[in-house]
This record gives sequence, C-alpha cells and structure tokens, in this order.
Amino acid sequence: MNQPPSQPKSREQWGTRLGLILAMAANAVGLGNFLRFPVQCAGNGGGAFMIPYFIAFILLGIPLMWIEWGIGRFGGKYGHGTTPGMFHYLWKHPLAKYVGAIGLTIPFALVIYYNYIVSWTLAYSVFSLTGKYAGILDFRGMADFLAAYQGKISNNYFPNIMTAFLFFCITHFCMMWIISRGVSKGIERLAKTAMPLIFVFGAILVIRVLFLGTPDPALPENNIANGFGFIWNPDFSMLKESKVWLAATGQIFFTLSVGFGAIQTYASYLKPKDDVVLSGVATSTTNEFCEVILGGSIAIPVTVAFFGLAQTKTIAAGGAFDLGFFAMPIIFQKMFLGQVFGTIWFFLLFLAGVTSSVAMAQPIMAFLQEEFKTSRRVAAWIVGTMTFFFTLPVIFFLKHGFLNEIDFWIGTFGLVVFAILEVVLFIWVFGAANAWKEINSGADIRLPRFVLPLMKYVTLAYLVALMVFWFIQDGWGVLTMKGVSAADYPYIWFARFMLIGIAAFMVFLVYIAWRKPHVIQRRVPE
Ligand code: ALA
Repeated sequence: MNQPPSQPKSREQWGTRLGLILAMAANAVGLGNFLRFPVQCAGNGGGAFMIPYFIAFILLGIPLMWIEWGIGRFGGKYGHGTTPGMFHYLWKHPLAKYVGAIGLTIPFALVIYYNYIVSWTLAYSVFSLTGKYAGILDFRGMADFLAAYQGKISNNYFPNIMTAFLFFCITHFCMMWIISRGVSKGIERLAKTAMPLIFVFGAILVIRVLFLGTPDPALPENNIANGFGFIWNPDFSMLKESKVWLAATGQIFFTLSVGFGAIQTYASYLKPKDDVVLSGVATSTTNEFCEVILGGSIAIPVTVAFFGLAQTKTIAAGGAFDLGFFAMPIIFQKMFLGQVFGTIWFFLLFLAGVTSSVAMAQPIMAFLQEEFKTSRRVAAWIVGTMTFFFTLPVIFFLKHGFLNEIDFWIGTFGLVVFAILEVVLFIWVFGAANAWKEINSGADIRLPRFVLPLMKYVTLAYLVALMVFWFIQDGWGVLTMKGVSAADYPYIWFARFMLIGIAAFMVFLVYIAWRKPHVIQRRVPE
C-alpha cells in the first residue's frame, strides 16, 4: 500500500455533507434523466426495459460509483483531483499517468458538445416564455424551427445560427463563472439551489401531467393512463434482443455519469475519512428518483395523451430531441398555462444540464490548478477558452454529423473503455484488499463481503462483454462510416482527428506536468 496520505492544506473541500451529496447528484442528474431515459425506456420494451436497467444499475452502476468515489478520495489524499495523479499512485508504472489522461480527455470532449445541447434548453425556455414558437402546432413546423435554430436551414424564425450561438455563449459563460468560483462557493452553491428547483419543477410538471386526463374528448384513447401504460407496460419479448440490454446499460452509464472522470474529481474534495459508501448510494438513488419517477412521468405520458400511441412511437423512435424539442413545445401550446409549463420544462432541463456541464469541466480545472499551480481564475479562463473553441465545430458542423460522431466515441464507447481501465487498475493492480480497505474506510455502512468479488469479476466481465457487443452492433458501422454521405466524410474525419488531438494534448500536458519533480506535500496530521 502507498505511503500515508498527504494533501496540500490549500486543496478545496466540500462545505457540508448535504452539499456534497447534492453536488454529486447534480453531477449525475442531467438531460439524460428527462430526455434520454423516457425515449430509451419506451423504445426498448417499456416496463421490461427496467429489468436490464436495474440489473445494470446493481451490477455496474453502483459498483462503479463506489470505485470512482474510492479512487477520487484516494487521489485527493495525495493532492490529485484527476486521474493522471490518481492512477500514478494506484499503479506504480510510468505509463499510469498517461492512461489517466483518458480521464481528462473524456470530460473535456463531453463538455464541448453537452454544453451546446444545454444551451438549446435555455433558448427554448426563453422561446416558450416569449411565445417565439407560438402558433407552430405541427411536428414538421417544430422540426423546421429547431433546424433553423441550429443553422441547418434558414427561415423567418432564424435567418442564421447567431441566436443559437448567442445562447451557447450565455450558457458557456454561466459554466465558466460557476467553476471560477470554486468547489464550495461555485459548484456546491449551485447544486444547493438547482437540485431543489429540479425537484420542485419536476413535481409541478408531474402533477400537471397526472391531472391531464383525456385532453381531447373526441379521442378517448389518447389519455394519460395509456401514456403511462405505453412507457411502463412490459413487453418481455424485447428482452431477447441484445440491443435492449445494451441500451439499458448505456443509459446507466450516461445517467450516473460513470466513466466520465468527473465523479473522481468531485470525490477528491472529500476528507480522507469521509464516507463514500452511503454517499455513493444516496447520490445514485437520488439520480434514479429523478430519472425513473420524474423523468418517466413527464415527456412520454404527456405525448401519448396529446398525440396518441402510434405517433408517440414514431416520435420516440426519432430520439430524445424529437421528444423534447418537437413534441413538447407543441403539447405545451395545447395546454392551459402551457407557456408557463413550457418555460418550467426547458428551464428544468437547463438546470439539470448546466450542473452536469460544470462537473465535466471540473477535472481539467483541477488538473491545471494542481499540476500547473494555476490560479482558479486563470484555470477557468483557460478551460473556458479551450472548450469554447472546441465547441465551434460542434456548432457549425452539426448538420454533418459532427456531434453524433463525438458522442459515439466519447459518450458511448469511451465511457466503457475508461470504466474497464478503472476497475482493472483499482481492483486488480492496486489490489482487491487495498481497494476494499480504501472504499470502506470511514464508511457509514459496512459493505457486504460479496461486493468485492462482484466488482472484481462480475462488473469487469459485464463491462468487457458490453464493449464487445457494442462494437459488433454499432462500433464497426460507425468506424466504417456506414450510412454516412460522402459529403460528410471530411467532417467525420475532422471529428476523429479532433478527438485524437485532444487526447494527444492531454497526454502532452501530463508529460509536461510530470517533468517537474512531483513533490508531495505532507498533510498536517489531523
Ligand atoms: N449524467 C448526465 C446526464 O444524465 C450527464 O445527462
């Protein structure tokens, strides 16, 4: 086992335990809970989807949470809030820190497209309030509204992409401002405000949905009960399909933000004896409440009530954006006080999204502050400027599939690869006994002994199987650009080179940082 921990006294820390839990939950609760989950659930067997979903939650989600919290708090004791430093102490090998660079690449690449999508939700909450899309009551019209907003086409609503660009700048500035204020005064304070608001807004919308009944008495089939039936009635025959299992597992990854590199950074701000076991479970269950109870009770049921089953199936098959940005704005216009509910819906998405964006930006912040001794303000400027410029191709080449390409390699595949590396390094290389001791140290509840073999064998095997199946099902097609038009090839290649460039840059930063003697300051005994 490594030497007793030591941590520079100046390292930031969470203010309160409640603040920490809320910040971790805010990290996890995002667009995935309210947009991605309902679409995944409805399209993959409804209630039956919850079987692979909860299996993945128990076998992958929770164990990975503990592993990431454990690695994070461990790294924090040595003064490192990011995985290069954490892996350096887990695996005493010169390569370890470079493997850790993946934990900088992933959140950095995530933030450059996630934050752009978050900015759409801010824009739509303003559009809803001001009535910008008022009068567009058909699906095609809303699709064109979004396409024009995104700069894919031009129409009377948006002659060019500048509105989207403006909202992106505002969202980006919010993110930068929060991270520049630090962990306790920025991230924790935001979470303490945003999480209660997410609960309140979510509850308001769920209650509104529950009282909708049958919006159009001429179409009695289109009612809320059928809406809940559509999302929750189990179609067990779907469980035979591997795509359902992959979708459920992918959702668990995305929603819990595991494999992102962000949980480790948040956990590094814990004190050495702070609990990670109960806190990890509390965070995960808060996320699941927001996802299954709130997220599962809004978008899909309401869409069935207004559009009927057949059309909801088409909308759900079109994906999360069709549901959130086409169907929902039309629905709100058909509802009493819909302008208000629409604003609440999109602002809820914005709050959920921005609290996840700051979590994705924090690893590179911590890296600059700790490994390069950059001040917080300067680090925020560097992170803000870099992510701003890297988002530009995402914004301007959206119609060429740029965002989807990054999302696949980072938001789908990258998470699983990184999770595999974490399990191997923590449980196998650092050692199962050390990892166990690390996770249980200071724990408020003692983990049952079977959790260790579960992490060591089951979680790892599950992850490897997932990666293999994923690659066979989607990866090969994406790699060979199946279905991509020849005109889009250069953009897809650009996206790939950009990702490779970001990864190479992170490796380079690690190299530079480690050229300085890595002086570990001793912690003042507590
Ligand atoms: N976990 C975040 C979400 O669900 C990224 O959107």
